[in-house]
Amino acid sequence: MNLLKPLTATPSDKKVYIETYGCQMNVNDSEVVLSILQDCGYRYTEQIEQADLILANTCSIRDNAEQRIWGRIDQFHLQRKKRPVIVGILGCMAERLKEKLIENGKVDIVVGPDSYRKLPELLKAAQEGQKGVETTLSREETYAELTPTRLDKNGVSAFISIMRGCNNVCSYCVVPYTRGAERSREPGSIVREACQLFENGYREVTLLGQNVDSYHWKSEGQDVDFADLLEKVAQINPLLRVRFSTSYPSDISDKLLKVMASYDNICRHIHLPVQSGSNPMLEKMRRKYTREWYLERVAAIRREVPGCSLTTDIIAGFCGETEQDHQDTLSLMEEVGYDFAFMFQYSERPGTLAARKYEDDVPAKVKTQRLEEIIALQMKKSEERYASMVGTEQLVLVEGPSKKGEGQLCGRASNYMMCVFPDKQHTAGDYVKVKVVGATPATLLCELV
Ligand code: SAH
Ligand code: SF4
Ligand code: F3S
Repeated sequence: MNLLKPLTATPSDKKVYIETYGCQMNVNDSEVVLSILQDCGYRYTEQIEQADLILANTCSIRDNAEQRIWGRIDQFHLQRKKRPVIVGILGCMAERLKEKLIENGKVDIVVGPDSYRKLPELLKAAQEGQKGVETTLSREETYAELTPTRLDKNGVSAFISIMRGCNNVCSYCVVPYTRGAERSREPGSIVREACQLFENGYREVTLLGQNVDSYHWKSEGQDVDFADLLEKVAQINPLLRVRFSTSYPSDISDKLLKVMASYDNICRHIHLPVQSGSNPMLEKMRRKYTREWYLERVAAIRREVPGCSLTTDIIAGFCGETEQDHQDTLSLMEEVGYDFAFMFQYSERPGTLAARKYEDDVPAKVKTQRLEEIIALQMKKSEERYASMVGTEQLVLVEGPSKKGEGQLCGRASNYMMCVFPDKQHTAGDYVKVKVVGATPATLLCELV
C-alpha cells in the first residue's frame, strides 16, 4: 500500500446509502459506519438511486431476517445494472456467512461488526475491482472515541452503545457468534457522548447492550458497574432522560433499582426478556434464572420503582416445548402483565448449542398456534395496561407531529407509552404535562394540563 496516499482521498461527491436491520445496536453501528465513511469523503443519501455505495447492516437472529436480506441483495443488484455501484454487507449476517455472501457475484465487500475501521481500505480495493471479506472479531473494539453520525429523524432521542458482544450462551441465540465476547466501553467516552448530545439539543439517550447489567469497567483505580454508569449519565442534566436496554433477568441488581428510584430522569421502564415461563424450557435455553427468580425480580422492581413499566421478549415453540410449558408462559404473562412484548416463533440458527444438541421438534403449525395465543393474550394485557393509565397525568418528551392527525403532537411518557395530544405551542424536545383521557392498546390519548 502507498502510505503517502491517504485513504481519505475519495472524491467528496461519493454518496452512501445504508439500510439497517435487527436491533437498536445495529442502528447505532450504522451511525458509526457513516461517521467512518464521512471521514473518507462519503456523503449520506436516503435515495438508493443516487448512491455510489449501497450498504445493508444485517441481522441473523432468525431465519426470516436473513431471507429478507437475500431479497434485498437481489434488489441492490438491479441498481448495478444501471451504473457502477459498490454493494456491501455489514453486521451479523456478514459475520455469520462471510465468503458465502460474495459467491453469487452480487456483493463486493463483507464486513463484520468489529471490522468497520477497515471500511476505507476495503472500499478502495473494491473501487479497483477487488472483493473483500473482513470478519475478524475483537476483544477490545468498542469504537469508543468515534462520534456516530446520527440517523434519527427527530433530533431528540439518541442511542449510545455502552458495550459490545455477549458472554451468555443462550442455546438458541446466534449473537455470541456474530458479535463475539462481551466488552464494556470506557465510561468517560460514554458520558462525553451523552453530554455532547445534550448540548446539541437531544433530550433522551438510551444506553445499549445485550446485557447492560453486566457492564463493568475496571482500570487505573476506576471500578464502574452499570448502576454507577447510569447514575453518571443521569447526573449530566435533569432535563436529559436516560433509558437503557436490555436487562438480563438474573443480573439486574437491587443497586440498579435504587439508582433508578433516586433520579426522576431515569425512565420508568425496564425491558426484561423472559423468553419462557417454564423452568424446563429456561434451563434448556440456558437462561440463568428460573420462573420463580424472574417473578421475584419483577416484585423487586414493583417495590423499588413504583409505576415502572415492564416489557419483554418471548419465544414460542422452542425445542421440546410441551403444551404445559406453553401454558406456563401464558400464566407468567398473565401474572406479570407486560405493557408490551416482542413475540417470536423459535427459529433454529446453525451452529448454536440448540441446533447441535436439540431437535427442532415442535411442528410449524403448533408453533404458529402458540404464538397466536401469546399475541392474543399480550394484546389483552396491553389493552388493560394502557386503559389503566386513563385519568393519570404524565410528563411527555415531545418527539414531533403525530401521524394521527393535524395539530397533534406525540411523545413518550417516562414509562415508554406513546402519548398523542392536540397542541400547537410546543415542539420536539419540549417537556409537556398531559392528562390521559383515552387509550388504545398502544397509544395514550391525552390533553395538555
Ligand atoms: N440480549 C437480549 C436479546 C437479544 S436478541 C436478551 O438476552 O434478552 C432479541 C430477542 O430475539 C431475544 O430476546 C429472543 O426473544 C429472540 N431470539 C433470539 N434468538 C432467537 C431464535 N433463534 N428464534 C427466535 N427468537 C429468537
Ligand atoms: Fe443472545 Fe442470550 Fe446474549 Fe441475549 S443474553 S444476546 S439472548 S446469548
Ligand atoms: Fe440481529 Fe445481530 Fe442485533 S443478530 S438482533 S443485529 S446483534
